[in-house]
Amino acid sequence: MIEITYEYGMIGLGTMGRNLLLNMSDHGRSVAGFDKDAQQVKALEEEGKDKQILSTTDLKKFISSLKIPRVIILLVPAGKIVDEVIQDLKPLLGKDDLLLDCGNSHFKDTDKRIEQLKSSGIHFMGVGVSGGEAGARFGPSIMPGGPKEVYERVKDILEAISAKVNGEPCVAWLGPGSAGHYVKMVHNGIEYGIMQLIAEVYHLLKGPGKMINHQLHTVFSKWNKGLLRSFLVEITADIFARKDELTDNDLVDMILDRAKQKGTGGWTSEEAMNLQVPIPVIDIAVSMRDLSAYKEEREAAQQKLQGPEITLGDDKTELLAWIEQSLYFAMITTYAQGMALLKTASKKYNYELKPAEIARIWRGGCIIRASLLDTIHEAYTENQDLVNLMMNDEMAVKLSHAQDSIRKVIKKAVETGVPLPAMMAALGYYDGYRSGWLPANLVQAQRDNFGAHTYERIDREGVFHTEWNLKQGKK
Ligand code: 6PG
Repeated sequence: MIEITYEYGMIGLGTMGRNLLLNMSDHGRSVAGFDKDAQQVKALEEEGKDKQILSTTDLKKFISSLKIPRVIILLVPAGKIVDEVIQDLKPLLGKDDLLLDCGNSHFKDTDKRIEQLKSSGIHFMGVGVSGGEAGARFGPSIMPGGPKEVYERVKDILEAISAKVNGEPCVAWLGPGSAGHYVKMVHNGIEYGIMQLIAEVYHLLKGPGKMINHQLHTVFSKWNKGLLRSFLVEITADIFARKDELTDNDLVDMILDRAKQKGTGGWTSEEAMNLQVPIPVIDIAVSMRDLSAYKEEREAAQQKLQGPEITLGDDKTELLAWIEQSLYFAMITTYAQGMALLKTASKKYNYELKPAEIARIWRGGCIIRASLLDTIHEAYTENQDLVNLMMNDEMAVKLSHAQDSIRKVIKKAVETGVPLPAMMAALGYYDGYRSGWLPANLVQAQRDNFGAHTYERIDREGVFHTEWNLKQGKK
């Protein structure tokens, strides 16, 4: 007989699950871990040998070791594995047991699972966790959604294991249903956008800028001490300094230029299209990952399609200052797009999201943490109904100040033939948003011309149609 002593259970002892479990244990919680894979169970046994941890491949033993009502965290790959685990667990669980899905599940799957478990009285929460391996072990940003009263049961442990900024835990109850997984999805969309923006700058500086990795390391390290201070800029600086273990080269030069993706960026774009919210930087970031996969085609096209062959001058001081401002500008617009999507989604799905809380818990532990989030947090604390982040007075000043620089950087890219589509999308979003007049009147006229789709007028109410093609057979 096994004693029922464990406060929390963890299913899935891969990198994230094992590290989160050890984090819980460090905070004085007793935790049992289960995985079907004996190797993973062994890895946890070894790492946790001095702690009060049960590690097993026996699901029944795992379940019966947990205090009732049980609290079980799932950290298994998103998709059908989550459903399989739920099916295995269902007969072994009872009323008021609580499952927390801490993987990157699609929010619609989370809603479906909540519904499926309702009649059995088993609670299900979708919880976004960001920060990778180190975050899981020493403090991630945690984005929980689900019933508020159920969250109260795990508030204490989630606060204990989360990252802290000025002593405040980077976790907050975000809203009902799939709110947590929705916010995590958008977090990842922003992550894709910022990664692409940084990669584009690298392209410009490495290509026509002819800068070597050592110089890039210095530049990114400097940027990380200023306006751009953020996790992604910091790791970029580190990457440029890393030597390859298999050759004498720098590691970054030995890595194939074909980026993979697990899908959360694409989900964000898809969702934004469905809700008709423009998020062009994120869309472009997804497209550029897709384009990167066409390696052979790109190599063939390089031989056939002409572009300029211009290099940038040796003195980069001015250019680097413009780029720093451009990245800052583009990052603001990327957060603005993510926040705009959350604003619309909050209404559509009744999440009642609090943007200030979201910005607050993104300040530490997660992949998109950045000093800029302090200002974003302040902007939404001042006005939680802010129509768009760019309309906050301080943000508007920052954007106005940086817009000249991003135009100059884009000009350089156009002249040298380097693709900076995310940077261009950032500027296009800004210029589009600040255009009191857009040429959509012409689009309306075209729609009405070829399809009698009608149009609205500027001088009177109602819908109108014009007979445009009066002459038969007109081309
Ligand atoms: C995080 C990350 C993480 C995600 C990776 C990989 O917040 O810790 O977002 O959840 O799995 O970033 O994502 P892609 O494979 O889609 O690049």
